[in-house]
Amino acid sequence: MTTELSPSMNLKDAIEQRCAARSFRSDSIPQAILAEILRLGLRSPSGFNLQPWRFIVVQEQGNKEKLRACAFNQRQVTEAPVVLICCGDRRVNQTDYIESMIKLGKDAGGVNDAFADYMRSAIPQLFEHHPCFESMEAWTNRHTMLAVAHLMIVAKSFGVDTCPIEGFVSAQVKEGFNIPTEVDVCCLLPMGYAAEPFKLYGGRFGIEQVCYGESFGESFQV
Ligand SMILES: Cc1cc2nc3c(=O)[nH]c(=O)nc-3n(C[C@H](O)[C@H](O)[C@H](O)COP(=O)(O)O)c2cc1C
Repeated sequence: MTTELSPSMNLKDAIEQRCAARSFRSDSIPQAILAEILRLGLRSPSGFNLQPWRFIVVQEQGNKEKLRACAFNQRQVTEAPVVLICCGDRRVNQTDYIESMIKLGKDAGGVNDAFADYMRSAIPQLFEHHPCFESMEAWTNRHTMLAVAHLMIVAKSFGVDTCPIEGFVSAQVKEGFNIPTEVDVCCLLPMGYAAEPFKLYGGRFGIEQVCYGESFGESFQV
């Protein structure tokens, strides 16, 4: 049997039809589809292309049960065939990691010597002065959740449902899954095929309520 690796849904439908799944069928996700969702999800952007996200792919039932116990007993965690523990790694400011990212960029043809030297000086300065974030954890969380958003939309385009979860005890997840001190757990992401009870659409505030024109609080018209 071959697995069709083209999305079954276009982007607009995937965005509009994605919703947090409260329950999952037991059907597994074909491994080729899972690999493609991860590959495309990881095309998410990041500052200096540092890619601080890390994902633990949990598929064994015993580990899912252990994870559910850290997640206020939420059923999605054991029902879904795959659960990602989505983490942000604060060690991406280390020199050897920055060099590995520069090598990646050079190999891909997107980084030349001048830009590599710029990154060697600018990245440590960003983390030393952190003008646009309070803590390293805020910075890694920003990027990891952006990748999670990519993953959820890509997954839906392949017909795979997800449920982002922040209802978990971080210290328990870290201890149970050997997560280093410098790595933070940003969310859990059960993935699979939604089952009843389906969650109803909760609505969204309109453009006029959350978008401002030119200055915070000023009305914006499209
Ligand atoms: C960061 C984050 C954490 C969430 N945590 C949980 C959770 O712990 N349990 C849960 O059932 N849903 C959780 N949700 C799902 C939200 O309830 C859901 O996204 C929201 O109500 C909007 O609905 P929709 O995603 O179906 O459009 C979370 C969503 C996000 C983005």
